[in-house]
Amino acid sequence: MSRTLTLLGIESSCDDTAAAIVRLGSAGPEILSSQVLGQTALHGAYGGVVPEIAARAHAERLDGVVDEALAVAGISLDQIDAIAVTAGPGLIGGVLSGVMLARGLAAAKGLPLMPVNHLAGHALTPRLTDGIAFPYLMLLVSGGHCQFLLVEGVDRFMRLGGTIDDAPGEAFDKTAKLLGLPQPGGPSVEAEAALGDPARFHFPRPLLDREGCDMSFSGLKTALLRARDALVAEKGGLTVQDRRDLCAGFQTAVADVLAKKTSRAIEVVAGRPTALAVAGGVAANRAIRGALEAVAARAGVPFLAPPLRLCTDNAAMIAWAGIERLRAGLSPTTDFVARPRWPLDERAPSLLGSGKKGAKA
Ligand code: KG4
Ligand code: ZN
Repeated sequence: MSRTLTLLGIESSCDDTAAAIVRLGSAGPEILSSQVLGQTALHGAYGGVVPEIAARAHAERLDGVVDEALAVAGISLDQIDAIAVTAGPGLIGGVLSGVMLARGLAAAKGLPLMPVNHLAGHALTPRLTDGIAFPYLMLLVSGGHCQFLLVEGVDRFMRLGGTIDDAPGEAFDKTAKLLGLPQPGGPSVEAEAALGDPARFHFPRPLLDREGCDMSFSGLKTALLRARDALVAEKGGLTVQDRRDLCAGFQTAVADVLAKKTSRAIEVVAGRPTALAVAGGVAANRAIRGALEAVAARAGVPFLAPPLRLCTDNAAMIAWAGIERLRAGLSPTTDFVARPRWPLDERAPSLLGSGKKGAKA
């Protein structure tokens, strides 16, 4: 398809209300706008995302965010070629809010509608930012998700493994909570860890000796809880240095597991991937990013981490996935349903909890 394609993307699967305009022209893709309205303040008091509050907020805010995306891009709906919308996986109320708006706009303007898997949005982002060729290896590592994928095509993903319980971001958030650090836990634990001694506490690295690319992070938080309680029992509380050392030990264990399993994933698909790409909020962690970069360098595979605003939830990745699908000849359709669960690789055996406990993906 040689003509320019301009898509409106809509994302509302968790706690970010997002809309974006992405254009693919002869010079490559361009993000004309990418608006993300978070809901952290709305859910803060509850210690997690409340599905009903999220759905209502999306329903109230989506219109405005779409208008904003059009205004920032400086175009009207009449200049849009198609609409791409997240149709799952995620919190069903939120997904439905986005799908209903997209259906309404598409019907009113006579525009084609492309349903998009949110995880495919994450997985295809390195092609939007860096234009890399298939197949590449992707590690998706966020607050609700952790899996290795060989991205073989626009609609072809091979799941190599993932967490069998908590996602690493969730483990960071729980660690912060256990140590009285602010949420989101990732950045606060990272800041403490930078001043700590990673060798003082040795936390478990489950499944490292097991074949394959599956991971487990739930034991880590139990071990951290025990270490914290032992210190409290011994000394009546934690010193500033105790906290830093606990964070450093925890972060090193997560980085270690991710690095070793990444190395194994590269072996499993030996010689095939053009690059190792990461996405998700946890990819912001410098220690983890550094460890992954080192693994890629050792394996002689280029390492790629899209800018953080495109690693975390956004609608530009949804618009882009829509463009990719259209370009690959996949047909737009209104004949689809919103799906709370939607594995990218339907052939992969589903794991207990599918490695996804939280609402975020
Ligand atoms: O991708 P994201 O914004 O949302 C989804 O989960 O989809 O990721 C958020 C997660 C949170 O759990 C947060 O604690 C974690 O990413 N995170 C980090 C860092 N920054 C954010 N984890 C470790 N180190 C960081 N610097
Ligand atoms: Zn996501």
